[in-house]
Amino acid sequence: MISSILETIGNTPLITIPNSNKADEGQVLFKYERFNPGGSIKDRAAMHIINEAERRGLLKPGGTIIESSSGNFGISLAMIGAAKGYRVIILVDPKTTSSNLALLKCFGAEVIVVTEKDDCGSYHKTRISLANKLAKEIENAYRPDQCFNLLNSEAHYKSTAREIMNACSNKIAVFITAVSTGGQLGGISRYLKTFAPQVKVIGVDAVGSGIFGGHADSYRIPGIGLGWTPVNLNMEYIDCAYKITDEQAFVTARAFARNEGILMGPSSGACALVALKVAQELTPEDRIVCMVSDGGDRYIQTLFNDEWMEQQGFKTSIDLETLREMAQQLQPWSECPANVANYRSDLAYTLDVPESTLRMNEEILAQSYFFQESSLIID
Ligand SMILES: Cc1ncc(COP(=O)(O)O)c(C=O)c1O
Repeated sequence: MISSILETIGNTPLITIPNSNKADEGQVLFKYERFNPGGSIKDRAAMHIINEAERRGLLKPGGTIIESSSGNFGISLAMIGAAKGYRVIILVDPKTTSSNLALLKCFGAEVIVVTEKDDCGSYHKTRISLANKLAKEIENAYRPDQCFNLLNSEAHYKSTAREIMNACSNKIAVFITAVSTGGQLGGISRYLKTFAPQVKVIGVDAVGSGIFGGHADSYRIPGIGLGWTPVNLNMEYIDCAYKITDEQAFVTARAFARNEGILMGPSSGACALVALKVAQELTPEDRIVCMVSDGGDRYIQTLFNDEWMEQQGFKTSIDLETLREMAQQLQPWSECPANVANYRSDLAYTLDVPESTLRMNEEILAQSYFFQESSLIID
């Protein structure tokens, strides 16, 4: 018997894609995070951060959780808040889908839509500074602060990365995931470069995002991208970065629903396209683990709506051969991401990141407990 829904977070399956992945290529495995109870990978980081906040006395009974999130992290916090009895306030932006807004509300979260864009053309900075302001004004408030909190990547170092290594043993050749706050890519890459340094780590971003440098522009892929390189991401651990267009991401996600019966969101479509490219360059002994961070059911009104796709000027369908060709033609954005890093040490100050988060980060870095591991269990 399971005593709380929160105990079902993690231990998600690795799934092959036999219809799109040929037998003589590298073997693509999707780490399918839709099976988390909140429907996405963000349950892992949210749970770890809230547990640590309780343990450290930063979040007390009757407290309020305040966070900036375009959707998934907010939904995870709303679910956890409902299960544990906290008030939850989530700051979203106009890119947040109506399904995500409905999900936030169904868990009882209060939602604030931030409509003012920041100097990078996105809403990240305006959302974060308003969340920090509210956290100061509301009594007994706690800011998980996924963007500046190193517990975000620690969550993936401790859970997602270990699950992948335990399941794949030494056969993993390439790891691919999308990046925004850098939680998943930062934590998993640190783990892999510590215990399996031969694994090639690939980060996937949106054209228009600034995590791997480049010209800032608006983009439509939800959950991916940031105007700068997040603190949770150490670029020294990333071997290669791709930037994917909106249409490529959306069309690929739709193709996987039709051809494999796998629902995924656009950020995972972007990663899956890169996985198909890498597979064509490798042999069946090589496993390519590709994160599928959420399911497509939260994008029914956009990604899976023909009319919406046509309004964006996107194709509504693509056959498998064309998809594989599109993948083959992809070129890396950078093969040395450390050289294109865009860290902004001033932001913690200008966005008014809470002192408690900065102090805890220093403690994590000083203790280095998350950088070391005494033993590694491999099946
Ligand atoms: C669907 C989806 N994919 C990818 C990401 C990027 O993950 P991270 O913030 O850990 O870099 C997010 C983050 O919100 C997301 O919601």
